[in-house]
Amino acid sequence: MTAKVSIIGAGMTGATTAHWLAEREIADLVLVDVLEGMPQGKALDLQESLPIVGKDVTVVGSNDYTATKGSDIVVITAGIARKPGMSREDLLATNAEIVRTAVQNTIQGSPDAIYIILTNPLDTMAYLALKTSKLPRERVIGQAGILDSARMRAFVAMETGVSVENISCYVLGGHGDEMVPLTSRSNIAGISLREYLPADRLAAIVERTRKGGGEIVSLLKTGSAYYAPAAAVAQMVEAILKDKHLIVPASAYMQGEYGLKDIYFGVPVQLGRKGMEKVIEYSLEADEKAALEKSAAAVKESIQTLHTLVQL
Ligand code: 2OP
Repeated sequence: MTAKVSIIGAGMTGATTAHWLAEREIADLVLVDVLEGMPQGKALDLQESLPIVGKDVTVVGSNDYTATKGSDIVVITAGIARKPGMSREDLLATNAEIVRTAVQNTIQGSPDAIYIILTNPLDTMAYLALKTSKLPRERVIGQAGILDSARMRAFVAMETGVSVENISCYVLGGHGDEMVPLTSRSNIAGISLREYLPADRLAAIVERTRKGGGEIVSLLKTGSAYYAPAAAVAQMVEAILKDKHLIVPASAYMQGEYGLKDIYFGVPVQLGRKGMEKVIEYSLEADEKAALEKSAAAVKESIQTLHTLVQL
């Protein structure tokens, strides 16, 4: 492989990201974690699975950041996960330290890397990674929008029995309970969900989408979701490495788009080899605009808390 992707944090999400990526056969992979033996064990196990699926990818596990040298993409999943009853914001202080350390320890060896952040609270951690790395905003992107939209697509498919391939959903805003499932833009084979579904069923899907992460946390009890978050990251990595110019919802640093500045926020972005190539601006219905403003206020508050914890 010519491309190299390093994944910081080899827990469930990091290891599952490696799994989805290895199957795509698009990059050699490095898994880094502080736990001794864990990233090495998972990397070796994954490496040993690849003859079965016929993929020629090298997977290395390490406790040492030097293994990440020369990465094209650095994915940060490291951090503690929610337990039942916790909000993503409850993770802020602990995960800020972890994310800052991960950025500081990878940036020197991989000065050209594009960073994808998955650690929660997502938008605030992406902001921290941008400020710590001092990279241009094109090269630090947060992932939540593909995940939240995939949850909504799954719920619409369960409700209607239509193939997920026919279902397009767009969930924007911060990755918290105030996220905004855009029902006006979401559709089944071009038919707006507002037309396709009775209002009460659509409202239930919107609500379930917003609480989608929490639903998994309360089922698992010991951690948070990882299959869907990891699949979302893998799609972003592929879009970047293959220079696909793919438009997906993701968290980007706002420079006036949607009337927002100096926060990370979930919006449609176009991804290619240079990273986040552009932010796509939708014209929105009044109710969706108001909902996005509410969501932005929540992200701003979280970033303000970050500033009280970390000198940026
Ligand atoms: C989720 O929504 C972990 O925030 C992640 O599942």
